[in-house]
Amino acid sequence: MDRPSVTIHNTLSVDGRLTGFPVDLGLHYEVADSSHHDAALTGSATLLAAARAQGIDLAGDDPDQPVPPPVPDDPRPWLVIVDSRARVSRLAWLRGQPFWRDVLVLCSQTTPAQHLTRLRRHHVEYLVAGADRVDLAAALHLLADRYRVHAVRVDAGGTLNGALMRAGLVDELSIIIAPHLAGADAATVPLLTGPGPDRARLTLLAVDHLRDGHLWLRYRLQPGPSPDGADTPAPGCAYPAAGPTGRT
Ligand SMILES: NC(=O)c1ccc[n+]([C@@H]2O[C@H](COP(=O)([O-])OP(=O)(O)OC[C@H]3O[C@@H](n4cnc5c(N)ncnc54)[C@H](OP(=O)(O)O)[C@@H]3O)[C@@H](O)[C@H]2O)c1
Repeated sequence: MDRPSVTIHNTLSVDGRLTGFPVDLGLHYEVADSSHHDAALTGSATLLAAARAQGIDLAGDDPDQPVPPPVPDDPRPWLVIVDSRARVSRLAWLRGQPFWRDVLVLCSQTTPAQHLTRLRRHHVEYLVAGADRVDLAAALHLLADRYRVHAVRVDAGGTLNGALMRAGLVDELSIIIAPHLAGADAATVPLLTGPGPDRARLTLLAVDHLRDGHLWLRYRLQPGPSPDGADTPAPGCAYPAAGPTGRT
């Protein structure tokens, strides 16, 4: 089976950072949920940061407790967590959130056996793909084959975004530009991090004006590398003839 389509969805400051400014989470998820996806793919660091912001520690162990039976034909997406190093070991809080049908963890052959035992004990779905870190391409194929996941929305930071991009696994970017500058603090997270070139050709699909000065940009990635000369705008990167759409 083909891999699912993959869309990276982020809220970005005007100077291209994912952190270091107040993200309008209501708007972020309102926009994210406006298009269908079968799974939200996230990184361990993103989840730990999100939980920490709410005073929740996702390390440690959950007490044994009964797991509610799955809802038949549940229309909600899976929350899929890339976590080869077992950093997110307490999953009960995440499983109790109303946004997802359940949690599914992506592991690798280096994931501690004790963690896999823990996941089985708590009846958490998981897949093992990859020798060291998670083999993202293989994991996406398994998600399609075994869980009928055909559309994935990535809700992650620059590290997972970069790994997906370098593996050629991203089809679209859905970027909300927030009317903020994050500044030059080295601790802020860019859209893409990691080794190797991230250049890609993009075609602009739509521009929407959202509330409070936010812009929503959608781009499709063109197959193949960018032409040499990173300063030359890619030919596909132009406003469509009809011009940007407006929605305020
Ligand atoms: N503004 C926004 O829209 C937005 C959205 C999401 C997150 N954020 C922010 O971004 C920050 C977190 O970003 P981050 O870049 O530090 O972390 P991240 O992208 O969330 O997490 C790193 C993830 O990448 C995986 N990974 C790294 N290298 C890999 C490889 N070669 N192959 C496969 N998987 C790989 C890691 O897997 P392992 O665990 O297996 O090592 C981990 O799951 C947080 O502060 C969060 O608040 C902002």
